[in-house]
Amino acid sequence: MQIKEITTNKSDFMDILLIGDEDETMINKYLNTSKLFALYDKSKLTSVCAVMTADKDTVEIKNLATYPEYQNKGYGSALIDFVCKKYKNDFKFLVLGTGENIRTLNFYKKRGFKETHRIKNFFTDNYQKPVYENGRQLIDMIYLKKFL
Ligand SMILES: CC(C)(COP(=O)(O)OP(=O)(O)OC[C@H]1O[C@@H](n2cnc3c(N)ncnc32)[C@H](O)[C@@H]1OP(=O)(O)O)[C@@H](O)C(=O)NCCC(=O)NCCS
Repeated sequence: MQIKEITTNKSDFMDILLIGDEDETMINKYLNTSKLFALYDKSKLTSVCAVMTADKDTVEIKNLATYPEYQNKGYGSALIDFVCKKYKNDFKFLVLGTGENIRTLNFYKKRGFKETHRIKNFFTDNYQKPVYENGRQLIDMIYLKKFL
């Protein structure tokens, strides 16, 4: 397993980024100002993570995605561990916002994140089309935080 930082042509990764965030316009708002990390297993791209500085104490995961055929093999967790180690000396908190999908929320909670607040109607106000996950429309953005 190898994790590389991608510094050029980040939009080449749009297909996998769209798994974590299905609106390309929204992705383009953070892609250039985020650091993009790509995880490869035996030279095959399996997962990506985009991370942005939010303030002097806080880094934010803007996108985390694993191709469906590689999910549940530990790659997403490996990227979270990598990001925690990389930023723990310089920042206090790792935060992220996600839709109200119980599976995703449990994934992060199991890895040390706690819910802090929600942004009401974030998905209905900011996304061009309704977003559905597990058959439910995403409405609010739930924020989670982990101490580094
Ligand atoms: C959530 C996600 C990044 C996890 O990546 P991964 O490489 O499968 O992660 P791991 O193998 O380390 O962990 C598997 C965990 O993810 C959960 N998971 C698997 N597929 C999932 C999916 N489609 N959506 C949400 N969670 C999922 C599993 O339930 C498992 O949880 P557990 O450890 O509590 O049992 C990945 O499933 C994914 O890209 N999902 C779709 C996009 C998404 O929801 N991104 C997060 C938005 S910020």
